[in-house]
Amino acid sequence: MSVELVERHTKPVPRYTSYPTAPHFHAGIDNTAYWAWLEQLAPNAALSLYIHIPYCDRLCWFCGCHTKQVKRYDPITTYLRALHAEIRAVADRLEGRGRVVALHLGGGSPSMLTPADFQLLNDLLRERFTFAEDAEISIEIDPNDMDAARYDALAAIGITRASLGVQDFDHKVQAAINRLQTFEQTKEVVDAMRVRGVRSVNLDVLYGLPHQTIATVLDTIEKVLLLAPDRLALFGYAHVPWMKTHQRMIDEAALPSVQSRFEQARAAAVRIAAAGYDAIGIDHFARPDDRLAKAAREGLLRRNFQGYTCDAPDALLGFGASAIGQLPQGYIQNTVATAEYQRQTTSNGTAIARGIELTGDDRVRAYVIERLMCDFSVSRKKLQELFGPAAAAVLEEMHLAVAHDADGLTEIRDDTFHIREEGRPFVRSIAAAFDKYLAVGGARYSLAV
Ligand SMILES: C[S@@+](CC[C@H](N)C(=O)[O-])C[C@H]1O[C@@H](n2cnc3c(N)ncnc32)[C@H](O)[C@@H]1O
Ligand code: SF4
Repeated sequence: MSVELVERHTKPVPRYTSYPTAPHFHAGIDNTAYWAWLEQLAPNAALSLYIHIPYCDRLCWFCGCHTKQVKRYDPITTYLRALHAEIRAVADRLEGRGRVVALHLGGGSPSMLTPADFQLLNDLLRERFTFAEDAEISIEIDPNDMDAARYDALAAIGITRASLGVQDFDHKVQAAINRLQTFEQTKEVVDAMRVRGVRSVNLDVLYGLPHQTIATVLDTIEKVLLLAPDRLALFGYAHVPWMKTHQRMIDEAALPSVQSRFEQARAAAVRIAAAGYDAIGIDHFARPDDRLAKAAREGLLRRNFQGYTCDAPDALLGFGASAIGQLPQGYIQNTVATAEYQRQTTSNGTAIARGIELTGDDRVRAYVIERLMCDFSVSRKKLQELFGPAAAAVLEEMHLAVAHDADGLTEIRDDTFHIREEGRPFVRSIAAAFDKYLAVGGARYSLAV
């Protein structure tokens, strides 16, 4: 693939974990709107719960997550008090409606919680919500946090999937991002979770980090494959120092070029596929018998704030500072600053800072962008059936997109808009053509590859 082609299609665009994307949320959607939306949820609505723990005991310089390094545990104790208040307030508002099909503990590093705090959180959730028997319970783990008591605590609360950050095993790369973590340490956590019955293990690997080359990325992939993860996420390092000031610690001169990022991603993807994994969407891989791979084959893959998922809830309820929720009416986000989150939830139960109510046009574009990010194609017939006349403008834009596509990355075949094989690495840029908000906001994004 030519350097020019790669550079033409890697302009910074959103990662489309929602549409409209978070920079377009506004303060007009507040606690009152959230309460009203919750009250309209159907009694048997399938719920996915996301709980954000914005703390870590280390600060990796590459990190783009909403998190803060803490040296003591007291801030977490205070935070959990506020989190419990929010959980109680939302559950009260639901008055028993809804059934939890998935619970995800993310961060930051939820693995920092003490065993007793895991148990208290789990007890509260089980007391206030009805869980489906086969609910998926997942957690993001910083391998550095783990010990025998924590493994046991996670097993006791029924964790079904553990997601571990690896990033890269090369020492020079690890030193440049302030994240030291050996292969042995990672293996110990994977083995310990499996011994305790966790049936699905996901590992996160990054490309585009300082000092990474195709050779170091491939070496990391070989080691990762030795751990036989059920799922693998291969993310491009998002360098956004204007938003995450600690990323200024990263030496920009050591960052690979756009072309090198592209080649690292491709080499890793080829190696992972050769090991028998199915490629899922833009950055995931799964064993063919994994639920995610099955969903992808059946056209049932979904994309939300946590990335790719096979959960299809009626509502995603976000708890904790910065957490985002998705209800049939639209999106809501909690206030990002933890002190303000704690103040508000302790006094009135919620801390919604902003959100957006979906228009008819938003729903059409959200559907198109999600299908492109998941399947690399959208059936025009299905779009018409689902949305009727509201889909007319987007159907016309598909013709225009193909007509203006001098590189031949897209086509309309069998009444379906397809991203061709050569266009797949640029799906974010192609999806951006259907984003009506992109031209409006002044938001800045990371590179599209
Ligand atoms: C929310 S973090 C939590 C993981 C856990 N705290 C750990 O460090 O292992 C989840 C994943 O996001 C990815 N991530 C974090 N910052 C990123 C960035 N700037 N660009 C791309 N991916 C990033 C990393 O792969 C990380 O493992
Ligand atoms: S990568 Fe994980 S451990 Fe490191 S700062 Fe980010 S959330 Fe914390």
